[in-house]
Amino acid sequence: MTRPTDRPLASVLEAMGDTPLVELARLTRGLNGRVLAKLEYLNPGYSKKDRIARQMIEEAEAAGALRPGQTVVELTSGNTGTGLAIVCGVKGYPFVAVMSAGNSMERARMMRALGAEVVLVDQQPGSRAGQVSGEDLALVEQAAQRITAERGAFRCDQFRLAGNFNAHCLHTGPEFIRQSGGALDAFCDFAGTGGSFAGCAAALKDHDPAIRCYVVEPEGAAVLAGQPVTQANHRIQGGGYAMSHLPLLRPEQVDGYVQVSEAEAIAMTRRLAREEGLFAGFSAGANVAAAVRLLTTTMPGATVAVLLSDSGLKYLSTDLWD
Ligand SMILES: Cc1ncc(COP(=O)(O)O)c(C=O)c1O
Repeated sequence: MTRPTDRPLASVLEAMGDTPLVELARLTRGLNGRVLAKLEYLNPGYSKKDRIARQMIEEAEAAGALRPGQTVVELTSGNTGTGLAIVCGVKGYPFVAVMSAGNSMERARMMRALGAEVVLVDQQPGSRAGQVSGEDLALVEQAAQRITAERGAFRCDQFRLAGNFNAHCLHTGPEFIRQSGGALDAFCDFAGTGGSFAGCAAALKDHDPAIRCYVVEPEGAAVLAGQPVTQANHRIQGGGYAMSHLPLLRPEQVDGYVQVSEAEAIAMTRRLAREEGLFAGFSAGANVAAAVRLLTTTMPGATVAVLLSDSGLKYLSTDLWD
């Protein structure tokens, strides 16, 4: 989407997407290759998930699957919920966000401020706050299903709805191509639902099948790469749930897998802030760490595209920032 800038926008929904692409020239100094980062934290809800919220709701409206005034329910780590709170608020749908109590509390407060009802689901016994596992998420899923049935709601299921894939295939991926002048060699992305990876990979490979696309996973929970789970809990919020099947992910699009440790992701997120002035979340650090790994191993000289998926402001209550 090319955003018109010479007139007032009809609503904040038109301000979603079309984010800047920045070369990480300081961070990659001395390395052979380039990393281009898309500033998704500049979306109105401070994450890339605004894009899918708008796309999923508008596709449901067009298909008649969502009635005027019907309640919308979704399981969220906070970002999709924030996007949906904005979209539903503007369009007049009540919205219930179902979230693990293990996610940072800025997210719940922001969703409430935007008019959402937030239901927090306790973690499994033994799980730690700030470390949401696939098992914790299974509890959130059960609660989301129950609330959807109780309220006769529309379940805006980001793990399954094509709108998640389409938002990135129709917009994020083509923006990467346009903004880079088409000169990309690789894309790597930390997977939660896998929607960003799948949508961007489809658009990038459609443009040039030689662009290599890598799934990024946390070390110790790299099930998509076929590895055993040795550490299900980690601090890279928004993904790495060790779910071996992601409905939106198409295995034929995956050229490889990169594992990033929690410590590497955190160190790189801090470097992004200090050296590039880019204040992003844990998964942004994971993506950039993976891109740097590609430049220093299998893809020297390459130009690698990544998403800085959400804002560092969402983690002020965590130990990401000291
Ligand atoms: C901060 C953050 N990074 C990465 C992801 C993963 O994105 P996707 O669900 O498109 O795989 C999410 C998803 O919630 C997220 O919130």
